[in-house]
Amino acid sequence: MGVVGAGAVGLAVAWRCAQRGLRVSVYDDRPGSGASHVAAGMLSPVAEAYFGEHKLTALLVESAARWPGFAAELAEASGVDPGYRTEGTLVVGLTADDLAEAGRLWSYQQGLGLPITPLRPSALRDREPALATRVRGGAVAPGDHQVDPRRLVAALRVAAERAGVVFRPARVGALSEVDAAVTVVAAGCGAAALTGLPVRPVKGQVLRLRAPGGGPPGFRHVIRGYADGEPVYLVPRAGGEVVVGATVEERADTEVTAGGVLRLLRAAVELVPELTEYELVEAVAGLRPATPDNAPLIGALPGRPGVLAATGHHRHGIVLTPVTADLVTELIVTGEPDPALAPFTPDRFPKEPRWN
Ligand code: GLY
Repeated sequence: MGVVGAGAVGLAVAWRCAQRGLRVSVYDDRPGSGASHVAAGMLSPVAEAYFGEHKLTALLVESAARWPGFAAELAEASGVDPGYRTEGTLVVGLTADDLAEAGRLWSYQQGLGLPITPLRPSALRDREPALATRVRGGAVAPGDHQVDPRRLVAALRVAAERAGVVFRPARVGALSEVDAAVTVVAAGCGAAALTGLPVRPVKGQVLRLRAPGGGPPGFRHVIRGYADGEPVYLVPRAGGEVVVGATVEERADTEVTAGGVLRLLRAAVELVPELTEYELVEAVAGLRPATPDNAPLIGALPGRPGVLAATGHHRHGIVLTPVTADLVTELIVTGEPDPALAPFTPDRFPKEPRWN
């Protein structure tokens, strides 16, 4: 079989399929250089449970539950630690308006039975003294964890190679170039040109900071928040890095703009003032592969025998990696789609209307 795309999803599919005895080739001229390279690695089924997306939320919850086992197995198979951390996530609001907006979402999330608990400002600061004293309140989502996507991709490459996957450093311009009976298109935004699926790029600008003195950052939780209406997240890594993200722009370029950096840094520093002392190490932009309903496209392509999609993961590619890999592998091996895939079939959208 062939897998087009060597990001987290494509590599995990390749690894899982090779573990089941399939001969797998992965096609990518720049492995790991797409959305996985930019992603912060939040595993946030709760904090990213949004109104009207309950089917997607169920898949996020399912995949997050697979993460501990997936990370342990991957570390064992590759000898590379993917940086899975379980300190949990704090969601905070800087102003009363920010808190009101966040609070509506927490009520919705609690109504779904998801683990998120509002905290008073003093309890927030007990957990993370680095939070600004201006922060009006927040909540803890203890089950929202994180992984380092760059380490994840490195680990998956080693694990896949050890399982027998062959890497072909080629850019696939058309699926006819893939010499395989079964092809999985895991090419992120590139899936649109390859398959005609409704995948569009949504740009995200992301910064990487480094704590001074070579030590770890001054906070351990993932911190997500609203700062004067500006959403931002801060993801601390043990090695001293803090990922600050991300803009959400309906654009297809990957330029880093002064305005994007300004918005991210302003919001980040308002929530955690000590970040002004951190080194700005990297500013980068990537393209999320989004779909009309924000949910992924996973399954066989009708009218295209032997072609499957594993794309359209939008903001959730890293958290959805384990479940996507498992379900795609099961589909290929058994020929039967798991019922969990029903809401995510690639053919669920009507054709775009024409207006002229
Ligand atoms: N999941 C975070 C982002 O897409 O920015």
